[in-house]
Amino acid sequence: MTPLAEQRILAGMLDPSADEIRDWGNSVIQLMADYLGDLRDRKVYRHMSSREIRDRLDPALPAKGTDFDGLLKVFRETIIPFSRQNAHPRMFGYVQSPGTPLAAFADLLASTLNANLTVWRSAPAPVELERLTIDWIRQLLGFNAKAGGLFVSGGSMANLTALATARQAKDYSPGRLRIYASSETHFSIAKAAALLGIGRESVRHIAIDEHFKIRVEDLVAKISADIEAGHVPFCVVANAGTVNTGAVDSLAEIREVADRFQLWMHVDGSYGALAILAKSASKLFAGIEQADSVALDPHKWLYLPVDVGCVIYRVPQIARAAFAHEAEYTRIIEEEADEAFAFWDYGPELSRRFRALKVWMLFKGVGLDSLSEAIENNLACARYFESLVRASDDFEMVAPVELSIFCFRHLPARLRSESPQAIDAFNERLMIALQRDGGSYLSNAMLGNRFALRGCVLNYRTTLRDMEILLDDLRRVARSLPASA
Ligand SMILES: Cc1ncc(COP(=O)(O)O)c(C=O)c1O
Repeated sequence: MTPLAEQRILAGMLDPSADEIRDWGNSVIQLMADYLGDLRDRKVYRHMSSREIRDRLDPALPAKGTDFDGLLKVFRETIIPFSRQNAHPRMFGYVQSPGTPLAAFADLLASTLNANLTVWRSAPAPVELERLTIDWIRQLLGFNAKAGGLFVSGGSMANLTALATARQAKDYSPGRLRIYASSETHFSIAKAAALLGIGRESVRHIAIDEHFKIRVEDLVAKISADIEAGHVPFCVVANAGTVNTGAVDSLAEIREVADRFQLWMHVDGSYGALAILAKSASKLFAGIEQADSVALDPHKWLYLPVDVGCVIYRVPQIARAAFAHEAEYTRIIEEEADEAFAFWDYGPELSRRFRALKVWMLFKGVGLDSLSEAIENNLACARYFESLVRASDDFEMVAPVELSIFCFRHLPARLRSESPQAIDAFNERLMIALQRDGGSYLSNAMLGNRFALRGCVLNYRTTLRDMEILLDDLRRVARSLPASA
């Protein structure tokens, strides 16, 4: 190849012409439509090894470029089949959203514009869109008009951001600070405490009741004992949907305790808070608007692709004390208050993606009525599954269904006389076998030292029929498993 021809290829790949962009786009859209069109017929997962995948990827550091078709071929033939199909209607593992084509297009457009939402003047319209969508979320949660917040990468980052602000709200006394959260709380809270230098051991785990919710009397007892011992309680974390069972703590009661002891109240609603949109669940969230901060994840129950988490503050100015930082290269010169707005004053990031576009497109394009209906359907699927299990003689529930998470185990007649440990081990093998089978996908939870199969309905494609298929898949796969390993 002549140097000139080589140069043209380089320019083409780095800076394609309008026609080339159209060609690439058409190929990508075709692939996307084919993929999503036959999603239901695909396996959710297949058994695979790291070696198998690495063997398919050319490991050589690429000195020369490859054309677009070559790149797409790898995506089609290696990336797709060797991925878990998170958009599949029977992907029930973890807290996994399916994504939606509308948001995939939003991400494409956001990257095309490559807006960087540090401060208003860097991205005026994108910043306004983030402020607008954050305000919509504020209204959904019922906060007063002064509340505000920002998008972050996910629930873990939202929890970290909120706890950093919570600490700032109380006098800083390293080593003696105490956080309170139920034993069911997501590990990102302990991780945030560690990262903030407060220490994992400063998170006091509060006992739970039979519904996996905080025992308020134990919360009061632990706070009182800590004060007595000279510690400084500063924050209580309530769950609006625990990761294991979907339990929503009694938010109003916890607010009272927080007031009594002058604690910051943070709600981790990363999984569950957006179920406030469903009429049949909204009562559970009474009092959430009184929290000092809330973490929630549009990349969970708004079905959006990663990454978009969100933190809402009741009094955003307090966050400024934790995050505002003056430097000459970020000094804002000659701007009015609205135009001087800087997201870096309210969270840890400086460069920030245009996450708001997909949130805005979803709200505006789909509308709240349809979103509420989709969330309501997810709740109905989980409740239907619970009714199927309770009516069966070979499955049993191990936790009540509160939102869209269901925890249960298989207990066929041949296992009934086995020890609890043998039943746990059987269910663990069943989960792995189901995942490898690929018809449906579940993950697991430890509840009171017992192993549970755990599913979470978080997909607008999932139907009641899918819940029946899940049980059929489990029975089919279980029949091929011996009672003991
Ligand atoms: C209750 C809860 N909090 C926090 C997180 C962490 O969220 P992310 O994975 O977006 O960091 C999760 C994740 O599933 C969760 O369920």
